[in-house]
Amino acid sequence: MTPLETGQRVVVSELGETPLDAIEHFVSVVEQPPPDPATLAPGDVIVEVKSASVGWVDLIMSSGQYQHVPDPPYTPGLEYAGVVRWKGSATGERLQLGDRVIADGALTGPRSLGEHRRWGGWARWAVAPAEALLPLPAQWSFDEGCNLLGNYETAYHCLIARGQLKAGETVLILGASGATGLAAVQIAKLVGATVIATGRSEAKLDLVRAHGADHVIVTQGELKDPVKALTGGRGVDVVYDGVGGATSVEALRATAFGARFLIVGWASTPLVARGKGGRGAPNVNQLPTNLIIMKSLDVLGCPTVIATLRDPAIRAPRLKQILEWAEQGKIRPHVSHRFPLGAIRQAMLAKWSGEVTGGCVVHPDTA
Ligand SMILES: NC(=O)c1ccc[n+]([C@@H]2O[C@H](COP(=O)([O-])OP(=O)(O)OC[C@H]3O[C@@H](n4cnc5c(N)ncnc54)[C@H](OP(=O)(O)O)[C@@H]3O)[C@@H](O)[C@H]2O)c1
Repeated sequence: MTPLETGQRVVVSELGETPLDAIEHFVSVVEQPPPDPATLAPGDVIVEVKSASVGWVDLIMSSGQYQHVPDPPYTPGLEYAGVVRWKGSATGERLQLGDRVIADGALTGPRSLGEHRRWGGWARWAVAPAEALLPLPAQWSFDEGCNLLGNYETAYHCLIARGQLKAGETVLILGASGATGLAAVQIAKLVGATVIATGRSEAKLDLVRAHGADHVIVTQGELKDPVKALTGGRGVDVVYDGVGGATSVEALRATAFGARFLIVGWASTPLVARGKGGRGAPNVNQLPTNLIIMKSLDVLGCPTVIATLRDPAIRAPRLKQILEWAEQGKIRPHVSHRFPLGAIRQAMLAKWSGEVTGGCVVHPDTA
């Protein structure tokens, strides 16, 4: 084995009051010696990280406003892609040195529950158990690979497992230019649904249209009239809501009688919980029950990770379908922003401020 070089990793020394507070005061980049194989378990693998996603969940974890609160100091980076550089004696034959792999954030890194949660992907080196590493789909870049699992698994869980979206139905996807939103557009089209996508910017929506959306609406408040105009006055069968706040209420008014309303997230009101891991939900979103009852809506909470922890059996079919679609070229993540690891603050700010379309990544091996 060629000796592994010293690299860099990001450290969050303390949880922020908000992600912006964490970015400003508690995020730093430090030297990272390569992991010493003598200290690792026989089932471990050393991965040289080539690209790591800077996702929304990474941001809200830095202030402890995500359901899974990290224990600082920690290295963020739920999902990464890279190359196998060392493998322990009990890792089997599935992985070989030099293989291009993606890390499953449910089984390793800061959102996982065991020993490997200290090995986040915002680093030159990560250690993962062999079972947490999947082959990078053929022809895919590392940037695309680290934007696959979380985004498409979320879209699948919400639209298919919870939403039961069917061919011929119409779905309204809020925040469609986001990482999970763009995945939802692609999956809804694969199911055979008609997609109406919303967002705040014409330019970002052009890209959403290029990824398959049938119609796009620039959100300027009211959604009911433009949606009704596109659905012959009927409204949509399903809403995929990753935005929350006032946009949710507008979307409720744009539904057909008996529609399914999928609560995915709240990108427009991210500070629902107290900062610094204080929990509680003092600023939580509220939906009008009069509209829900009069329109006979099914409002469905769709927490992908929590639902999977409670019933792990729901994951295998989801993962199988997503990996098949990826190999067949039917889904492909879009990455609009790339930064060297040393510019991590800039990368986090770009994601937080809504500049990004789809994914944002950092590269640990560029200066
Ligand atoms: N349910 C689950 O299992 C699950 C899993 C992962 C993530 N999530 C949640 O889903 C949400 C979206 O995640 P993501 O990764 O897709 O985030 P993202 O990549 O940042 O995308 C969110 C999108 O929402 C829109 N948006 C942001 N702020 C807005 C505002 N103030 N008003 C209106 N629209 C706004 C933006 O689109 P425009 O700029 O085009 O408006 C942005 O592209 C987050 O709340 C996240 O925590 C849920």
